[in-house]
This record gives sequence, C-alpha cells and structure tokens, in this order.
Amino acid sequence: MLANKRIAVIGAGHIGTALIGGLLKAKLLDAKNITAARRDAAALEELRKRFGVHVTPDNRKAVKGAHIVILSVKPQTALAVLDELAPAMDESQLIITVMAGIATETIVKHLGKPNPVVRAMPNTPVLVDQGATPIAKGAHASEEHLRLAESVFKAVGIVETIPESLMSAVTGLSGSGPAYIYMVIEALTDGGVKMGIPRVTARRLAAQTVLGAAKLVIETGKHTAVLKDEVTTPGGTTIAAVHELESKGLRTVLMDAVVTATKRADELSDTYK
Ligand SMILES: NC(=O)c1ccc[n+]([C@@H]2O[C@H](COP(=O)([O-])OP(=O)(O)OC[C@H]3O[C@@H](n4cnc5c(N)ncnc54)[C@H](OP(=O)(O)O)[C@@H]3O)[C@@H](O)[C@H]2O)c1
Repeated sequence: MLANKRIAVIGAGHIGTALIGGLLKAKLLDAKNITAARRDAAALEELRKRFGVHVTPDNRKAVKGAHIVILSVKPQTALAVLDELAPAMDESQLIITVMAGIATETIVKHLGKPNPVVRAMPNTPVLVDQGATPIAKGAHASEEHLRLAESVFKAVGIVETIPESLMSAVTGLSGSGPAYIYMVIEALTDGGVKMGIPRVTARRLAAQTVLGAAKLVIETGKHTAVLKDEVTTPGGTTIAAVHELESKGLRTVLMDAVVTATKRADELSDTYK
C-alpha cells in the first residue's frame, strides 16, 4: 500500500524516528521516499546517516510532494507548526497525527483545508516494534486513508480502529499504560528482592513474566479469567496471592488509573483547540 508513497515526518523525535525505523525495517517503502524534518541540524544528520532518508529543517519543504504527512511534534508546538504548514499543504495530502490531545477537527481548522486526517495514539513500545496503536479517522478521511495509516503503525506493533470520541480513553489505557506496567514490574522485582532474589535476576523474571503472560493472552485468545484459573491450584500459592491482591483492591486501582488518565487527557485536549 505504501510502496509508491512519499512520506514526510514533521517532528522526527522519539515516535517519529521509531515510525521511520519500523517502515524501513518492514520494507514498506524506500528510504528515498521519506523526508524527516526537525530543527536540530546534528540530529537530522544522524537520521540521514542511520536511515538514508532525506532530511530538512524546513517543514514546508518537507511536505512538498508528500502523499502522507506524519505530524509528531509535541502538542504545545502543534498549532504553530500547523499554521506554518498551512500555505504549503494541498488538500489531497493525508495527515497522520500522533500528537496527543489535538483533534482532527483542530488540524483541519488550522490548515484551512479539508485534508483527510487520521489520528493515532501509539505508545512507547513502538520503539521495539511492540506498540499498541489505536487509530481514528477524521471527518474528511476515508476507509482507504484509515488502511494507509494502519499499514504505517502495523510496522511497529498492533493497530485498533476506534471512533475519535474514544481517543482520551485509549490514551488512559494503552498510551499511558506502559508506565503502569513498569510500576508492576518494579513492585514484583522488589517483592522478589525482599524474599532474597538478586535484583537483576528478579527484574528479568518479573519482566519476562509480564511479557509471557501478555503473549498467552494474545496468542491463545483465552479469557484472562480462564488463564488465571489455570494457574490457581486449590489451596496453592497463587490463589493465596490472588486473595491478597483482591483484598487490597488491585483491580479497582488499575481501573481508577485509566479513568483518571482519561479525564486528564480530556482536560489537556481542551487546551489545544
Ligand atoms: N512518547 C510517547 O509515549 C507518545 C505516545 C503517543 C503520542 N505521542 C505524541 O507524539 C508526539 C511526539 O512525541 P515524542 O515523544 O516523539 O517527542 P520528541 O521526541 O520530543 O519529538 C518531537 C520532535 O519535534 C521536533 N520539533 C520541535 N519543534 C519543531 C518544529 N517547529 N518543527 C519541526 N520539528 C519540531 C523536535 O526536534 P527539534 O528540537 O530538533 O526540532 C523533536 O525531535 C507528541 O505530540 C506526543 O503527544 C507520544
């Protein structure tokens, strides 16, 4: 789908670079069809050397002739960059935005043209091709545009299509989610250390336990309750620990975390209109 497309990445920082790396690794398009833009000249030169892509500090130059424009500057820079890009964009160009809290409607408003926009909320595991990226189409985007965006993010993980109204909720779940899981890994590690396991060993065991459990959920398609029942022997160690987790409210705490992060995402979105 992407083979003959030219892509401009405006704001080639962590997420933008991960997307460039993923696209090239998956051989979805040639490096010469990608232009990366940011202000730092040394960082641009590094991108050129590492990936062989075109680089420029000039955003308007970057979007010239691009079929797809990926916007990955920080949200607080977004409106200024959109205003800067407006005269250089034509309305056929597909915009894929990963910028948190910036609605597709806001992008169209600032560009002053009815460009198709697909909004995405990747998470940091895109850096190791294990991202979870919900995507949503704006008013002027078609199913075809959505599929194009899907193929970009599939290069770095899994993709789920959602209505844009759920963007704050997915930000609270999978966008912020890696931080919750790092805390879980850290706490399990500390538990192991408290019981005498060397820290490095405990951390490796804890992280692999999270990875392995997640893989079982994804690959077997079994309900998590069934998988949990499979490891809880009557009168055994796991059910004793499950009782402890239930009595201390683990589920409620995690549900509340998603609700709180969603509300915060809504608040932040209100500031970027
Ligand atoms: N990190 C995450 O977990 C995550 C998850 C989902 C969504 N996002 C979204 O992804 C976007 C990027 O996040 P990130 O973590 O990749 O941030 P980042 O590493 O800071 O990348 C942003 C890049 O934008 C460049 N930039 C700043 N001003 C610019 C301008 N006027 N024109 C062109 N480039 C400019 C910066 O480079 P220079 O200083 O060299 O210009 C920087 O490399 C944000 O909007 C964020 O909301 C991030």
